[in-house]
Amino acid sequence: MEALKRKAAAMALTEVRSGMRLGLGTGSTARHFVDLLGEKVAAGMDVLCVPTSEVTATQARGLNIPLSDLDHLDRLDLTVDGADEIDPALNLIKGAGGALLREKIVAASSDRMIVIADQSKRVAELGRFPLPIEVNRFGLGATRNAVARVLAAYGADKALTLRGEDKGAVYLTDGGHLILDACFGRISQPEALSRELLSIPGVVQHGLFLGMCSKAYVATPNGVEVLE
Ligand code: 5RP
Repeated sequence: MEALKRKAAAMALTEVRSGMRLGLGTGSTARHFVDLLGEKVAAGMDVLCVPTSEVTATQARGLNIPLSDLDHLDRLDLTVDGADEIDPALNLIKGAGGALLREKIVAASSDRMIVIADQSKRVAELGRFPLPIEVNRFGLGATRNAVARVLAAYGADKALTLRGEDKGAVYLTDGGHLILDACFGRISQPEALSRELLSIPGVVQHGLFLGMCSKAYVATPNGVEVLE
C-alpha cells in the first residue's frame, strides 16, 4: 500500500516546476509527496510551499522545504493532497487526518488541486467513509443536535460521533476545533448537504470537497491511473 501511495505521489511530482508556489497536503499519501519534494529541493528545485497542517509543516521544515503562508502569498499554483474518497466527478471526502479546514482553505487558494491516492479511495458515490464535520467548541451540544437534524434529513441514520470521545480524549484540530464524524452510507445530494451544514453557525467546515479537484493520480497494482 505504501508503495502504491508513493507511486501516485511521484506522478504528481512530475507536475511541479521550479518557481511554483505549492500547497502541501496532509496524510500518509501526502507525506510521500513531501518526502519526494524534499529530494527535489535538495537537488536545487526552487519552490515555496504552504503546509495544510502542523504535521506537514514539521515534516517540510525537516526537509528544508521553504515555507510560507497565505498571509504572504495570495495565490498558489498547485496543491497536492490525499483524499478519503474520490467519486467519478472528482468530488472528495477529506478530513480523516483532521486537517480539512486548512486543506480546504489552501486548495481554494490554488489554481489547481491534484489528489494522490491508492485505488481503495475510489467510490461510485460519496458517503461510505464517515464525513468529518469540524465544529466550534462553544455550543457543542446545540451544534451537534442541529447537525444531527440535517443528517437525518439527508439519510444519515447511523451514529454521529465526536472524534476521540470513545477513547476518552476528544480530538482537537490544529485550529482548536472538534470533529463530528457522520456515517451516511451514501450521500446523494452533496451540494445541498454542504450548504445546509455550513448554514449551522457552530459548523466551521466539513470534509466535502466539491468541484475543487481537477486531477487525481490513483495508484493500482497495474500502474497509476489518471482521472480528470
Ligand atoms: C487529512 C486528509 C487526508 O488527505 C486523507 O485523510 C487521506 O489520508 P491518507 O493519505 O493517509 O489516506 O484529508 O485531513
